[in-house]
Amino acid sequence: MAEAIPSLTPAPRARVQAMKEYHPPLGNRDALRLDFNENTVSCSPKVREVLGRISAGSLTRYPERQPVEAVVAAHLGLEPAQVALTNGVDEAIHVLFETFLEEGDELLLPVPTYTMYEVYASSTGARVVTVLAGDDLRFPFKRLLAAITPHTKIIAIANPNSPSGSTASRSQLLEIAERAPHAVLMVDEAYFHFHGETVIDLVGKVPNLIVARTFSKAYGLAGLRLGLLAARVELMHWVKRVLSPYSVNSLALACLPPALEDTAYLDWYVGEVLAARVEFEAALDEAGIRRWLSHANFVLVEIGAQHKEFTRLMSAAGVLVRDRSSDPGCDGRVRITIGTREQMRQAVVALHEVLTVLNKNGGSR
Ligand SMILES: Cc1ncc(COP(=O)(O)O)c(C=O)c1O
Repeated sequence: MAEAIPSLTPAPRARVQAMKEYHPPLGNRDALRLDFNENTVSCSPKVREVLGRISAGSLTRYPERQPVEAVVAAHLGLEPAQVALTNGVDEAIHVLFETFLEEGDELLLPVPTYTMYEVYASSTGARVVTVLAGDDLRFPFKRLLAAITPHTKIIAIANPNSPSGSTASRSQLLEIAERAPHAVLMVDEAYFHFHGETVIDLVGKVPNLIVARTFSKAYGLAGLRLGLLAARVELMHWVKRVLSPYSVNSLALACLPPALEDTAYLDWYVGEVLAARVEFEAALDEAGIRRWLSHANFVLVEIGAQHKEFTRLMSAAGVLVRDRSSDPGCDGRVRITIGTREQMRQAVVALHEVLTVLNKNGGSR
């Protein structure tokens, strides 16, 4: 008879055991998806053409990122050595934190902000120092400056920020970089296209600046997982030591140049979203729903005590939205992605139906 195998499970590192769990929905999202700030239509038709031409034979080779990094660098007005492509911005954040953060360091974050900053920091041993925005959820510039210490190692700022949609100005970012020369300032421009303001032109000029960009939002390539980091060569050198040479797959690499080239598609999509946001905001105002000023492809709204029921009923009505109540300072608030005007009109119909049900059930929204 075979001997019983002892049921000892190897324990992960203590820091991993202490990590915050993050479980976004990873399936059953067959509805109008206004919960992840994705492009709600498609990527460029030029990207689809390239995808259709990829041969099975080309999949036998390891991906070759350098030529595509050169194309992206030229597009951004940078040197190839200043750019690294990553498996989405999530990998960029992970690698950046693994490169710079260790025990005794501080990661400084204005909150609420993108959840994954804290998740990736938690395995590094660095302390996460948060600066809570006020009720208007504007960028807490002065208080963030005051929170810089000699231990601050990375300051991560999503610009525009999620879930608030608020922004930091170029002069504010410059002042932060100057006041923390011993720290890396990461400006995450995931939603740049909907805002139009960038600091990517300062890469190489501001020594401690790192800019992150994604192809998951305006470009409509979230499924391919494509992001990038841009910084002066001396910083990128260290990041590239940690980054896997093959984390960006060859399908993603093939799709990047046509995505960049098709500016007409990008302009159309961004224009459509901005027009839809104006219409949707007017509908929210008419319905008496408080909202925060957004510079991105989503709007944060105040639902109040019934936020869970609201999210559930919207989903039952075929529209997925994201309850952000567990974010700092966001109790009762829900984030709604902006798609096309047609999609947002559908969302408004669902919103009215749901509000009617909630009002009938009584109580404060
Ligand atoms: C501010 C911010 N940064 C990064 C990401 C993730 O981007 P990616 O899909 O490139 O990993 C998101 C996604 O929602 C985001 O909101």
